[in-house]
Amino acid sequence: MLESPYLVIEPNRVRANYRALRAAFAPATSTARIRFAVKASPVPEIIRLLNGEGAEFDVASIGEIELARAQGVDPAVMCYGNPIKKAADIARAYALGVRRYAFDTEDDLLRIAAHAPGAEVECRFLAATPASTTPFGTKFGCAPAEAVRLLVRARDLGLIVAGPYFHVGSQQTDPSAWRIGIEQAATISKALADKDIETRSVNIGGGLPISYATTAPALDEIAAVVNSAVAEFLPAGAGLVVEPGRALVGDAGTIHAEVIGIRIAPDGRRWVYLDIGRYNGMAETENEYIAYRFVTERDGDPLDEAVVAGPTCDGDDVLYQRTKVLLPTTLRAGDPIRILHTGAYTASYSSVSFNGFPPLTVHVSGAERE
Ligand SMILES: Cc1ncc(COP(=O)(O)O)c(C=O)c1O
Repeated sequence: MLESPYLVIEPNRVRANYRALRAAFAPATSTARIRFAVKASPVPEIIRLLNGEGAEFDVASIGEIELARAQGVDPAVMCYGNPIKKAADIARAYALGVRRYAFDTEDDLLRIAAHAPGAEVECRFLAATPASTTPFGTKFGCAPAEAVRLLVRARDLGLIVAGPYFHVGSQQTDPSAWRIGIEQAATISKALADKDIETRSVNIGGGLPISYATTAPALDEIAAVVNSAVAEFLPAGAGLVVEPGRALVGDAGTIHAEVIGIRIAPDGRRWVYLDIGRYNGMAETENEYIAYRFVTERDGDPLDEAVVAGPTCDGDDVLYQRTKVLLPTTLRAGDPIRILHTGAYTASYSSVSFNGFPPLTVHVSGAERE
């Protein structure tokens, strides 16, 4: 019997998601490349599976590069996609064989040129897209005109220009975001072409949403928008890179947790305390951004509103107090509770030992079959 809480990942679902993504974006370009954002689920079995399927890998740190290498991933299919990199880490990545990097400042570009000579680079620009459910805000991305200037500079520094790159924000539920980004990327590509720089690839980032408590647009709906924008705006021959994390692994995971206790607060609200919270897997409930779905064995009983909280002594370790969560009135201490579609950004976010609680354990289901 596994000790609660734990995450179970279904590899067959990850494989099916990968194949669905490849098929969905195939009309855009015969060379659509799917690059898994390792941060979403840095689980060795999942990396090996996706490597076997022919995926590329977006890595954010030396730790992820080493993890992927240990699973047999060729550094040639990795992209060091974090625009914020120390010079020493670029040098280490280069020594480990990584030859593709993303950047969004001249500062980082100069570090890449110095420590990864001859590497291929993608420039991340801030696309004018609607905010996503878990937005990046303005943390990343230069202005589109600056992307042109920096990619010309990259060429002049002896680097290989891949092309423009944008990310519409994670859990993006507005398909028009991709059309806006692709149109802006095309403007950058055109300006580069005027300077004799051919766009090898346009990276449309991640952000593909999955359904949580509410239903997200289907992959096919977003792919249709992407494919038609690619056909309309991009030069023929510019390859497409799609960099999903959540859409590959999110619905492949289920967290198994337990109710620790129930309390009626002085204001009359019912609080349900779980053995999983913000610090051991549910980080994406910050600002109540991601509204997960709970399943209990008493779901046929009458339901009532509940505040849902984690197990630590921290006042911020509350999953939902503004979002309306309905749970059975009969719920009791010791009851199991499952949290659906928790394969992305859960275990990888959990703290090492806040309050002495261990990180979320991950179990990869043994049903891995073709
Ligand atoms: C550089 C980069 N690429 C891809 C992703 C994956 O995004 P998503 O999980 O929304 O698909 C992220 C997520 O933070 C990212 O930072």
